[in-house]
Amino acid sequence: LQPLCPIDGRFGPRSQDEIPLRALQFKRGLLHEFRKGNATKEQIRLHNLVQQLPKAIIIGVRKGGTRALLEMLNLHPAVVKASQEIHFFDNDENYAKGTEWYRKKMPFSYPHQITIEKSPAYFITEEVPERIFKMNSSIKLLIIVREPTTRAISDYTQVLEGKERKNKTYYKFEKLAIDPNTCEVNTKYKAVRTSIYTKHLERWLKYFPIEQFHIVDGDRLITEPLPELQLVEKFLNLPPRISQYNLYFNATRGFYCLRFNIVFNKCLAGSKGRIHPEVDTSVITKLRKFFHPFNQKFYQITGRTFNWP
Ligand code: A3P
Repeated sequence: LQPLCPIDGRFGPRSQDEIPLRALQFKRGLLHEFRKGNATKEQIRLHNLVQQLPKAIIIGVRKGGTRALLEMLNLHPAVVKASQEIHFFDNDENYAKGTEWYRKKMPFSYPHQITIEKSPAYFITEEVPERIFKMNSSIKLLIIVREPTTRAISDYTQVLEGKERKNKTYYKFEKLAIDPNTCEVNTKYKAVRTSIYTKHLERWLKYFPIEQFHIVDGDRLITEPLPELQLVEKFLNLPPRISQYNLYFNATRGFYCLRFNIVFNKCLAGSKGRIHPEVDTSVITKLRKFFHPFNQKFYQITGRTFNWP
């Protein structure tokens, strides 16, 4: 008689299709325990777990949807995320601690999985491209962008909320974004400067070829996440595993949320998806006009065109 469940079949060489299941089980249970620091050396050895340097980094852009992108990619069985922003390359004190310190900040994973971290400050910090290049010159770099004026307002909203939490007053967006002396866009305002994507990208291109970057449409990730995630899977050479099942629209939240399996699903924290203050339309128009030529250059360099005004 043929055995119903041959031992050889269960422990034989793994096909591509078997990896996700094993990794998913791992993600659900073991990994969670290990992250809480409950792993013994024996367990780590037994499961052949390693802390790997990231093969891909979400380098920015702040308020582009970096958290949503990381969490959504983490739905993929072959992806393991670093939960915290590590700020290794942009923070001199952290950087001085060395690559081994950085690696030790990474979660445990199976060797076939890839680790991804996100620190949006990387995109705009002068020293970062060279530092990342020195660590791994063939690393894959993800940049998630949104329409620049909306991103600047989102950036302002985050700072405003921080001030309000401390019972502090803050300027109106209009006052910060427009120089009162010239009535022109205030290019010294950080929220404006961060949205000049092409200026920052050009610095990165001194170290990495454009093929090593993938641009994610952050506005589309909000309304229609799956096709954006499928493009990232392709860029990372991952088999397509994220499906519509993994993403469901939560009307109360007004955003897509994540479904890992029948019992485990989650939405992003309330700090993601804030209500923006109303901004004077003439200021919006001025900002859009200001960003326009930079956007054109960004489309030209990246080969990805958006219908930003
Ligand atoms: P707003 O707060 O302006 O709406 P980051 O993680 O880089 O700080 O980006 C935050 C932005 O992610 C939010 O900006 C929100 O619009 C966007 N986002 C994209 N997908 C989301 C999702 N599924 N849930 C919550 N926020 C999401």
